[in-house]
Amino acid sequence: MAVRTILHYPDPRLREKALPVAEINATIKQLVDGMAETMYAAPGVGLAATQIGEPHRIFVIDTAGEDEPSDLKVFINPEIVASDGKITWEEGCLSFPSVTEDIDRKARVRVRAQDREGKAFELDAEGLLAVAVQHELDHLDGVLMIDHMGALKKRIVDRKMRRREPQRPQPSR
Ligand code: NI
Repeated sequence: MAVRTILHYPDPRLREKALPVAEINATIKQLVDGMAETMYAAPGVGLAATQIGEPHRIFVIDTAGEDEPSDLKVFINPEIVASDGKITWEEGCLSFPSVTEDIDRKARVRVRAQDREGKAFELDAEGLLAVAVQHELDHLDGVLMIDHMGALKKRIVDRKMRRREPQRPQPSR
């Protein structure tokens, strides 16, 4: 599976609401593998399927530091089943290159999902992992970091992103 093109704002496909994955078959596993490869190549901490134009409820996250072994987490049909506390985190997004924003999130979340093999699991997350889960879950509902910004910054970021060079599709390998 090749590295995929990551869509940038304001691509309308980023606004699609992803649909639940009914069956974790070979196609879905291939998609998951391609997402992980794409995230690592970027590099990024997380990637949602909608960011590569695949409207399925899947995201991948790896919050391991540069000097730590990789720790890929695959979330299929994720949902937050409990949360508490508040945290403000300076977030970035692969769909908004060189944009950051302080966003208020829940400090702790319990997420329920299926892994790449279809096995259900629950995970308690805090800190960066909790923030990443909420950020990627937003993507699956078509919600983007710009939606968390105040009116002025929203306008500046919107203009900046629209002035960028249009994306060229990458040749498939
Ligand atoms: Ni993002």
